[in-house]
Amino acid sequence: MPQKILVTGASSGFGKLAVSRLLGRGHKVAAAMRGVGGRNSAAAGELAGQGALVVEMDVCDGGSVDAGVARAIEEFGGLDAVVNNAGQGVVGVQESFTPEDWQRIFDVNVFGVQRVVRAVLPHMRGKRSGLLVQISSVLGRIAVPFYGPYIASKWALEAMSENYRVELSRFGVDVVVVEPGGFLTAFLGNLMQPGDHTRDGSLAGMPREARDFLQGFEQALAANPAQDPGNVADAIVGLIEAPAGQRPFRTIVDKMGMGDAIQPYNEHFEKISSDLYSAFGIGHLRQLQTQA
Ligand SMILES: NC(=O)c1ccc[n+]([C@@H]2O[C@H](COP(=O)([O-])OP(=O)(O)OC[C@H]3O[C@@H](n4cnc5c(N)ncnc54)[C@H](OP(=O)(O)O)[C@@H]3O)[C@@H](O)[C@H]2O)c1
Repeated sequence: MPQKILVTGASSGFGKLAVSRLLGRGHKVAAAMRGVGGRNSAAAGELAGQGALVVEMDVCDGGSVDAGVARAIEEFGGLDAVVNNAGQGVVGVQESFTPEDWQRIFDVNVFGVQRVVRAVLPHMRGKRSGLLVQISSVLGRIAVPFYGPYIASKWALEAMSENYRVELSRFGVDVVVVEPGGFLTAFLGNLMQPGDHTRDGSLAGMPREARDFLQGFEQALAANPAQDPGNVADAIVGLIEAPAGQRPFRTIVDKMGMGDAIQPYNEHFEKISSDLYSAFGIGHLRQLQTQA
């Protein structure tokens, strides 16, 4: 059955690939991106040529999100799935990111998701079905140095998604999280730098270590063609096409070892979480997820 899907951050990377593959599978897809008539006009034209409904959407602007979601619902006569993919990374020593830097990252990676989710939920709750695909990261499960605000934002997205998973299950709305490892998309070239470099000289060489760490990581990615961004798009397609109520909550996409290390952690966490719900006497709230 063709589905009606909206993908945020569709101008490049995983989002653009997912839109193309979903269209290729016969789905109706709204490719939501900012700068349709400007910075992203080429991507917009390309996806429109493939049959996408291109929708202007800056996830940091509530009016833009509301208008974009409303337009997709109106043009398609509804929405079955939303892929919260738009995101922004960082690189640098955590202390050097100003509170304003942190706000900018959370505005895209966390509050942006909340804006989109709030715009679409009245519709999905109303029809008692739907799917939210949250693009997190393996860095939403572990923390390594030099990506501080980004990692914190993805941990926040994971927590937000855990909560939505439970609160939305009674409405038949599935919530799933995709956790990619590192991939060579535009993401790594667009990493936000710290806003304050005045402390660099007193940080015991860490600013250089941060740059070297990133460079080494990029080289490792370039040397591993199996780490194909298309794998993430395929995982998104697979989750959307899976039967409602039977989708795995977390899906790791990685062929560089990180995924293998985190999978047992995810499984263990799932059990601990389930046990805690039971201990608190709210186990029935989680049961709904599988019954939806
Ligand atoms: N690549 C990786 O290594 C990796 C690993 C794990 C998770 N992820 C996550 O995967 C998602 C997609 O990343 P990607 O690798 O495909 O990177 P990408 O090619 O840089 O794509 C990021 C997308 O987000 C969009 N975006 C950023 N701020 C936005 C805003 N305010 N409003 C609307 N769109 C906005 C970008 O739009 P513009 O073109 O207009 O900037 C772009 O389309 C992100 O959530 C990222 O955190 C990436």
